[in-house]
Amino acid sequence: MLALSLAVLIGLPAVVARYFEGNGQQPITIDNQPDFIPFSQFLPQVQHANFTEYNDTAVLSEAEFQRMQSHVLYMYEGVHDRDSVRVDYVDCIAIREQPTYYHLKLGHIEQPPNVTSRGEREGHDTPGPSRSADSPLKLGLKDRFGNPISCKPGYIPMKRLTLEYLTNFTTLNDFFSKGRGGPGRERPNPQGVEWDVHKWASAFQQVENFGGNSWINLWSPKANFSLSQHWYVGGSGCSTQTVEGGWEVGSWWPTNGQAVLFIYWTNHNYNLSGCQTTEMYGCYNLDCPGFAQLNNNWYIGGIWDHYSTINGDQWGFEMQWKLYKDKWWLFLRGRGEYEAVGFYPSSIYKGGQIAHNASLVAYGGEASRMKDGSPFPPMGSGKFPSDGWSRAAFQNTIFWIPRDENDGVGEWTKLGLESKTPGCYDINITNFPAGGDWGTYIYFGGPGGTC
Ligand SMILES: *[C@@H]1O[C@H](CO)[C@@H](O)[C@H](O)[C@H]1NC(C)=O
Ligand SMILES: *[C@@H]1O[C@H](CO)[C@@H](O)[C@H](O)[C@H]1NC(C)=O
Ligand SMILES: *[C@@H]1O[C@H](CO)[C@@H](O)[C@H](O)[C@H]1NC(C)=O
Ligand SMILES: *[C@@H]1O[C@H](CO)[C@@H](O)[C@H](O)[C@H]1NC(C)=O
Ligand SMILES: *[C@@H]1O[C@H](CO)[C@@H](O)[C@H](O)[C@H]1NC(C)=O
Ligand SMILES: *[C@@H]1O[C@H](CO)[C@@H](O)[C@H](O)[C@H]1NC(C)=O
Ligand SMILES: *[C@@H]1O[C@H](CO)[C@@H](O)[C@H](O)[C@H]1NC(C)=O
Ligand SMILES: *[C@@H]1O[C@H](CO)[C@@H](O)[C@H](O)[C@H]1NC(C)=O
Repeated sequence: MLALSLAVLIGLPAVVARYFEGNGQQPITIDNQPDFIPFSQFLPQVQHANFTEYNDTAVLSEAEFQRMQSHVLYMYEGVHDRDSVRVDYVDCIAIREQPTYYHLKLGHIEQPPNVTSRGEREGHDTPGPSRSADSPLKLGLKDRFGNPISCKPGYIPMKRLTLEYLTNFTTLNDFFSKGRGGPGRERPNPQGVEWDVHKWASAFQQVENFGGNSWINLWSPKANFSLSQHWYVGGSGCSTQTVEGGWEVGSWWPTNGQAVLFIYWTNHNYNLSGCQTTEMYGCYNLDCPGFAQLNNNWYIGGIWDHYSTINGDQWGFEMQWKLYKDKWWLFLRGRGEYEAVGFYPSSIYKGGQIAHNASLVAYGGEASRMKDGSPFPPMGSGKFPSDGWSRAAFQNTIFWIPRDENDGVGEWTKLGLESKTPGCYDINITNFPAGGDWGTYIYFGGPGGTC
């Protein structure tokens, strides 16, 4: 009876909303998931699974099925010390036993550096009240038996990688790819133009940098793939490398269409056509050895406790990426102070550009349709930037980090170059000092459709 169901928390918006508006310490009055599989039974089941049982899933072939099976077993190879009380198939795993620590042999647990600040301004509360959303796992909630539903210090929440989940993808490569499956994969169209299924409304600055920061306004547009994020990019062609993060809605996240916190990395141009490799080239979240998480209460891949509404409250969170001494640190700030969530060790970039510094920062939205010919989904709130405050999506407090240092002060980003999609999505850049209290900011998004 210890196995309980944050599945309901993660899966049902109505329950989440009602619950989090109340007293954070109330027990959750939801039933146990009757078919919850304890971790101790889970791995043997994966070991003994065979393709026949999964022949009605999306997986393309028996060979791909076996690749998925091997990946799951590989990921949990080092895991022995874990918390048995889990929900939504999130396991609490000892920091040192998570796949990244185990497979990349990371050794001792690092002290995170301090965040980089923007000395002259604090807060992000004009022209209306923005509010800080938080990760449901960190609110100190308890289930109805009194068990905590967040992980204790020293353990990290990791979404369980099940064959049921992986076989929603045709191939293991699809699972690792940015965008995933139909909606995400860039394909050349018959005219030979690549990136046909992806559209952006984003702004760039080309500058040698060690990361950056923004406050990201949160929405959940109805879409198969739509996001708001940061990009830190280095290299070019097949050597293009990135550090990325933000929120994303995608038909493959099991969250009833609610946006999740995501991170992504690639060291080899996303394994796109012409840049194919058999080596690990990147993935989302904790789905492959890459990101080392240290923090026990931010659930990467999880939902938020609040989302913005048109003409209503504007919710969001602050994200900072910072390259400091060979680690790309991720900091998140919900209702409290920034917290160090973990890092990408620069070794995953194999001596490439991003292991030293990034040469471009970018902020904004990206969206994709399922297939050529179908309409593009909404981006941001679904409103164009000209709708402005409380209607259009934004990111503010956008600065970049100039040095490899602890503490430090950022530089306001001077966004110049932009990528937009007339008719579907637009972006409006306001650079500091014109941005006043918001520093450098962008409004972006749009309804999608045909463009
Ligand atoms: C595959 O699994 C099914 C269902 O558990 C079982 O009946 C079958 O014998 C298995 N096949 C092989 C080749 O192991
Ligand atoms: C899946 O395998 C079972 C058992 O071999 C078979 O009866 C069924 O027709 C297969 N389904 C598909 C979609 O191939
Ligand atoms: C981090 O910030 C705190 C508070 O501002 C400061 O006391 C401390 O010295 C900083 N740490 C380092 C290593 O710079
Ligand atoms: C990269 O893509 C190719 C072609 O789809 C695929 O064969 C290969 O397995 C992919 N690499 C990885 C690590 O998934
Ligand atoms: C996702 O794509 C499918 C197939 O094109 C479509 O039927 C569905 O409505 C889309 N979902 C959303 C939320 O846009
Ligand atoms: C994965 O596929 C199964 C059917 O095989 C489906 O029931 C489930 O909803 C899918 N999960 C996601 C997240 O798409
Ligand atoms: C950025 O990295 C390149 C190597 O790719 C190096 O030449 C350059 O000095 C680095 N810049 C800074 C500011 O460290
Ligand atoms: C762009 O943003 C600025 C500053 O908020 C605003 O004054 C201007 O009207 C906006 N332009 C459009 C086309 O929305």
